[in-house]
Amino acid sequence: MCGIAGYVGDDNAISRLYTMLEKLEYRGYDSSGIGYICNGGIACLKQVGEVSCLSPLIMGKSSHCGIAHTRWATHGKPSEVNAHPHLSFDKKWAVVHNGIVENATYLKEKYLGDIVPVSETDTEIISHLLSIFCPDGDISSFISAISCLSGSYAICSVHENMQRLFLTKKHCPLFVAIGRCESAVSSDISCLADRFDRFYELLDGEYAVVESGRVTFYNSHGKIIHKDSQKMCKNTSVVDKCGYIHFMLKEIEEEEDVLERLYSIYDAERLRQELIDIDFDRIDRIMLVGCGTAYHACMYGATMLSWHTHITSTAHIASEFIYSRPDLDDRTLVIAVSQSGETADTISSIELARKKGCATLAITNCTSSPLSRLCHATLDIHCGKEIAVASTKAYNAMLQVMYFLSHYLSKTPYLPLCHEYFDKAIYDDVDKVSMLLKDKRELFILGRNLDYITAMESALKIKEIAYIFASPHPTGELKYGFIALIDSDSVCVVFAFDDALLPKTLLGIEEIMSRGGSVILITCLEIPRNIQDRLMCLISLPVIGTELSPIYSIIFWQKVSYRVSILRGNNPDKPRNLAKSVTVE
Ligand code: G6P
Repeated sequence: MCGIAGYVGDDNAISRLYTMLEKLEYRGYDSSGIGYICNGGIACLKQVGEVSCLSPLIMGKSSHCGIAHTRWATHGKPSEVNAHPHLSFDKKWAVVHNGIVENATYLKEKYLGDIVPVSETDTEIISHLLSIFCPDGDISSFISAISCLSGSYAICSVHENMQRLFLTKKHCPLFVAIGRCESAVSSDISCLADRFDRFYELLDGEYAVVESGRVTFYNSHGKIIHKDSQKMCKNTSVVDKCGYIHFMLKEIEEEEDVLERLYSIYDAERLRQELIDIDFDRIDRIMLVGCGTAYHACMYGATMLSWHTHITSTAHIASEFIYSRPDLDDRTLVIAVSQSGETADTISSIELARKKGCATLAITNCTSSPLSRLCHATLDIHCGKEIAVASTKAYNAMLQVMYFLSHYLSKTPYLPLCHEYFDKAIYDDVDKVSMLLKDKRELFILGRNLDYITAMESALKIKEIAYIFASPHPTGELKYGFIALIDSDSVCVVFAFDDALLPKTLLGIEEIMSRGGSVILITCLEIPRNIQDRLMCLISLPVIGTELSPIYSIIFWQKVSYRVSILRGNNPDKPRNLAKSVTVE
C-alpha cells in the first residue's frame, strides 16, 4: 500500500529511484511520481498508471537527490494531481508518504488559512506543515511539524536548498542504506539489497537526516541517537520473474521448494527454540487473526490446533477482531498470520492483545516486519519474496507451518510431503476447467470442514484476479438458503478431500444436479460411476490425507485462477484496486 524511496549521492537519483519504484510496484500501482532537486528548486514528474508510464518522463533528466512514490489510493482517486510527491504551497518541501494522516481535515482547518490544497490527498498537508513549521529545514522544527500528525506514516521528504532526505515513520516500514558516496531509502529492504551490504531500520518515532554517504538519527526530542546497522540478506534482492511471464506463475511453481524447505527447517528442536518465549503450559485459549488469504490460513490453523492440542482455538478476521470485545487475558495466545507482517488491521489486533497481557506469536514471511517486532515469538514461513498481489505460495507455507505447530504441541509426528502434487501431468485439466469458467459471471464454491477453507480461499483467488463473483459455502448449508439460486446456468465447484464426509458431499452434488446446476468436482477420492457421468467435470488428484489436503488441493485452483485471469485479459500480478501490503485500517 504505497511504496516510497529516496536517493542522494553521486549517481543519477532519477534513474536509481525509477529502478526502486519498479521493485516497489507490488505495493500499489495506480500512479507514481519522482521529485528531485534541480537548479536550487524541486521538480516533480508524476503519472497515472503503472510505474512504466513514468519511463518516458524521466528520459534525459538528472539530479543527485530525490524522492519517489508508487501509490495505492486511499484519499482521492488515482490522478496526476493526487500522485505523490506533494509540494508545499511555497515549493520549498516535497513529501512522499505511505500511510494515512487521520487528522488531515483538522490540520487543514487549523493551519492552512488561505492556502488552498491542490489535491484530495491526506498527504499534502504534511508538505504544507513542513513549510509552515520548518521553512529552513532544521531537524527540531521538522519534528515539531511531524508531531502534529496522527495516524500511520513513513515519510521521506526533501527541502529545496539541501541535498538531504528527511525521514520519519510510525507503523509503516522504512529502511536506510549508506554507501561510500551515496545513500538510499526504501519501504522495502529488497530494493536496497543489490547495491548495499548493510542497512538501518528506522523505528517508530525515530527521525533521520540522510546525506550522501552518511545518516544522522534523532529521537522524538531531537537528540542524536546511535543505531547499529544490520547485515543485508542478499536473497532479499530476488525480485525477478526468472523467465516466467508473471510473478504469480513463478510463485505457484515455487511451492514444492517452499514446502521442502519448511520440512527441512521445522523439526521439533527448531520449533522449541523459536517458541521459547511462549509458555504453552499457561495457555488455555488460542485466537488466530489475519486478513484475506491469511485469515483462511487462520481457519486451518484453528482447526489443526483444536484437533491436536484440545486448546480452544478460533480464527478471526483481524479488522473485526479489535471491535469484537474479545475476551483476552494472560492465558490467551494470539497468533497473527500475515505474509507481509505489515497489515494494519493485524498489527492493531496484536497491539490490543499485548495491552491485555496475552502471549503473541507472528507467522509471517517477513521477520523484520512491524508485526514480528511486536510479537513475543515469530515463525518464519520462509517462502522467499512474494510479489504477485494475490497470495499463493505464502498461503501453502502458512498452512504448512501451522500443521507443524499443531503437531509439535501435541508431540505427534508429521506426515511427509506429498511430491505427487507437483507432478506437472496432474495439471493437464487446468486449461479445460479454465475454458469452462472464463465467461462465467458467478460461481458457487463448496466444501465441508477443511474443504470449506479451500472453498473460501478459492473464491477469494478467482475474485481477486479473474473478477468473477464467487460465493463460497459449506456444502451442508446448501439446503438452508442458497439452493434457491441454483438453476441451469449455475456452476458449482466442489472440493472433496475428506473420505468421511464424502457420502454427504455427494448428496449435496445430487441436490445441485437435480435442479439443473453443473458441478465441477475436485477430489482425491473414488467417485461412483453414476455420479461421475453427470458431472460437468471431474478433477481427480493424488490421494492425500485429510489434514494435509488443504495445503495441496488449493494448487489446482491457484493455477485455474491464474489461467482464467489471463483468458479474461487481466494482469494476474496486478489486479485492479488491490495492493499487496495493506498498511491502513
Ligand atoms: C491483501 C493481499 C492479499 C493478502 C492480504 C493480507 O489483501 O492482496 O493477498 O492475503 O492483503 O496480507 P498479509 O500480508 O497480512 O498476509
